[in-house]
Amino acid sequence: MVQAGDPKLSDRLDATDGPLTLALRASDFPALHESLRVLARRADCARMTLLLPLADASPELAGLVSGAAAALTRETALDTVAVIEGEAAIVGDWSAPDGRFAHWRVADGTRRLRALQSVTALPAASADTPGDLVAVVAGGMGALGRASIAALAGAGWRRFALLGRSETPDFPPNEAMSAEIIRYFACDVGSETEVHTALETIRSEIGPIGAVIQAAGVLDDRLLGTQDDASVAAVLRPKLAGTKALDNLTRDDPLRLFLLHGSIVGLLGNAGQTAYAAANAAAQALMEERGRENAPGASLTLCWSFVEGGGMGDASTASAFRKAGWPPVTLGQARSVLDQAVSLTTSGTWAVFGAPMAAAAAQTPEITLTETTLAAIERQDAVPLEDIRALIRARAAGFLGEDADAISETASFFDLGLGSMQLQELAGELESRFEGVSPTVLFQYTSVDALCAHLATLTPRAAAEAVPETRAAIAAGAAAPAYRSLPTPPNAPAPSPSSG
Ligand SMILES: NC(=O)c1ccc[n+]([C@@H]2O[C@H](COP(=O)([O-])OP(=O)(O)OC[C@H]3O[C@@H](n4cnc5c(N)ncnc54)[C@H](OP(=O)(O)O)[C@@H]3O)[C@@H](O)[C@H]2O)c1
Repeated sequence: MVQAGDPKLSDRLDATDGPLTLALRASDFPALHESLRVLARRADCARMTLLLPLADASPELAGLVSGAAAALTRETALDTVAVIEGEAAIVGDWSAPDGRFAHWRVADGTRRLRALQSVTALPAASADTPGDLVAVVAGGMGALGRASIAALAGAGWRRFALLGRSETPDFPPNEAMSAEIIRYFACDVGSETEVHTALETIRSEIGPIGAVIQAAGVLDDRLLGTQDDASVAAVLRPKLAGTKALDNLTRDDPLRLFLLHGSIVGLLGNAGQTAYAAANAAAQALMEERGRENAPGASLTLCWSFVEGGGMGDASTASAFRKAGWPPVTLGQARSVLDQAVSLTTSGTWAVFGAPMAAAAAQTPEITLTETTLAAIERQDAVPLEDIRALIRARAAGFLGEDADAISETASFFDLGLGSMQLQELAGELESRFEGVSPTVLFQYTSVDALCAHLATLTPRAAAEAVPETRAAIAAGAAAPAYRSLPTPPNAPAPSPSSG
């Protein structure tokens, strides 16, 4: 058992072999996050259990741990990461029935698994008109903020107050043309003081607040090893601090609805998005707590798959989500889900995927992860090593919309303009062709030349499958004969077994 934030964690892990069992008693996310960065080095560890004792398990902290741990499984070679929330002895099987990540909650002598469960119908909706109530939309100038305004307007809302950091946005949005009153407030939702000032003005100058839509959020995708406290704080600020501020400061308002725009990344994780996953899972946990406390209005969280046409991500993000088995949602599909969601009267958390799972949602906490949600990255036949250099340049050129000849072999992938999701996609492809490719390979070997030199030290999967001793040797970390028999690209340094 090791405490999160323990400065000796690194030494203790180095001295520990085999499956790890950790008690995380972190009271703040930076300490936890620092520990996860150390833990991420243990890519050799097959299984990790993070124990979150009930006494420390505030919904916020449980969410942060859960989201970050879910993302950890997608960045490392860990087979299973289990988060156990509660005073449980580590006995029995805590793995996910169908996946690599599981979040168990142990309370009142029972253990429950958080998982997705398909539903066929949404709960009852209200037909009441909102009258003069004001809908406050944080991130209201963003894609999902505007789709929410359109849905609210369709349900009869006529007064809107939009919050965003920009001083002079392109205002008002087309979606609100039917509004009787619509105003924009330059306000950082991560600042309780700024939110307080804006809400006071809204109440006194526009009317009573009847709905809060929390659509504020930012991305800063980085693998754990390249994150720092500032990058994590920047992602947590609008989503987590913003949700807290909006909730704390509207508890006495006549709310009908508090809707959080969350992400399935908070439920299922994603490589490069530990902070985003933690922020979404924690904000979602606060919303569920809000529902349990019967705070005013329905407490809804919509955990979107990638929204095509939304303000976040690009085509490569959509492609990565598809490969993970999470069909993206179109803005049209998002709008039809929102048309129903803005009139719901019961609290809940719903995951929303696009076709073929359109409109289906998933309700926590009793879920079964399906094969589709965890489908592995598509595997392809191994190709000869000499083709890999051409393949890497072709993929980079494809992502950048350039000719393969224009791709420098010595410049770093970041300098060439490739983003985290594109690097992740490329790593997935390499992983399907070579034994021992880590998900972080493109962050370690950052140019075409360096990457090819590294791949020369690995064994193509086809070769490994043909030579069982090679597989055993790789597993044992030894330099197998197959390593040495592989051709070395011209100008590449001699292969070194330790470089992988
Ligand atoms: N699009 C997707 O694929 C997707 C998928 C899953 C979940 N989501 C979630 O849905 C929400 C909306 O996404 P979107 O696609 O509509 O993104 P978007 O178009 O980028 O909109 C985000 C909005 O948040 C505002 N914002 C950021 N930080 C803020 C802060 N500190 N205070 C106030 N406003 C802030 C931005 O305005 P300023 O820059 O002017 O502040 C922007 O208008 C996000 O929270 C995201 O996590 C989106």
